Amino acid sequence: MSTPTLNPATADRRANPARTASPRHYLMCRPEHFTVAYRINPWMDPAVPTDTSLAVEQWQKLYDLYRELGHEVELIDQIAGLPDMVYTANGGFVIGNVAYGASFTHAQRQPEGPAFMEWFGEHGYRVVDPQNVNEGEGDFLLVGPRILAGTGFRSASNSHEEVAALFGREVVTLTLVNPNFYHLDTAISVLDPLTDDAGANIAYLPSAFDDASRATLERLYPDAIIVSEEDGSILGLNSISDGYNVVIAARAKGFEQQLRDRGYNPIGVDLSELLLGGGGVKCCTLELRR
Ligand code: ARG
Repeated sequence: MSTPTLNPATADRRANPARTASPRHYLMCRPEHFTVAYRINPWMDPAVPTDTSLAVEQWQKLYDLYRELGHEVELIDQIAGLPDMVYTANGGFVIGNVAYGASFTHAQRQPEGPAFMEWFGEHGYRVVDPQNVNEGEGDFLLVGPRILAGTGFRSASNSHEEVAALFGREVVTLTLVNPNFYHLDTAISVLDPLTDDAGANIAYLPSAFDDASRATLERLYPDAIIVSEEDGSILGLNSISDGYNVVIAARAKGFEQQLRDRGYNPIGVDLSELLLGGGGVKCCTLELRR
């Protein structure tokens, strides 16, 4: 087997691990009506009690941390009866002024689609009503110039074609195979700056993907961080990077060390209550790239 040739940007980053943080713009939803009332992923068990005030407290620490890191955070009000609205990452996929709306797989979350589209419209975005089932940034990740797109459990693969046509970018379809990692953002973490830098890197959990997708990831990201099953299994990859600071699940100790070794600054947070709904840091954060 031949060694993959590194493109100059990647090679340079390896030699010089200096990282740069850039201010981001996020959309979050205070989980005032959070609970687990139904089961649409293996993490959720309506029989296990949830503590809404603890969920709000943990969420508030994440919000405050983003503000301390210099990020701008917008809020959408949670609608009573839509307990999963706190996972704003699923509310759409935004690049520039264009907000591609979500069309949820499960009936329980379907009303969230129009609610997020209304928010985008009121905040000056050009809203695109989706023609295909998709769960926003849960399954669409912008990595440098290209979009990685997940399918298998939630977003339909025809939504990938819709997104490619809409944004005029390369979209790479990746198939998820483990129901515990039902959204792409539970299996891949985007690490690098918000630019079209072709050397942008990721971290991922190989076992979450089918063979073809794993081969694609190996080819596209030869320098990626490969996380352990242990860190992956607590949704450690469900994290947010500003190019230097990477907000991760506090329990993902191995991932924390891997990030440190690569010159990132991992910051652990505890979102144990929101994990009962099957979501972590990234799920609670939608990136607005304007
Ligand atoms: N309970 C939610 C669902 O199953 C969790 C969504 C997590 N969000 C994410 N971006 N992975 O739809």
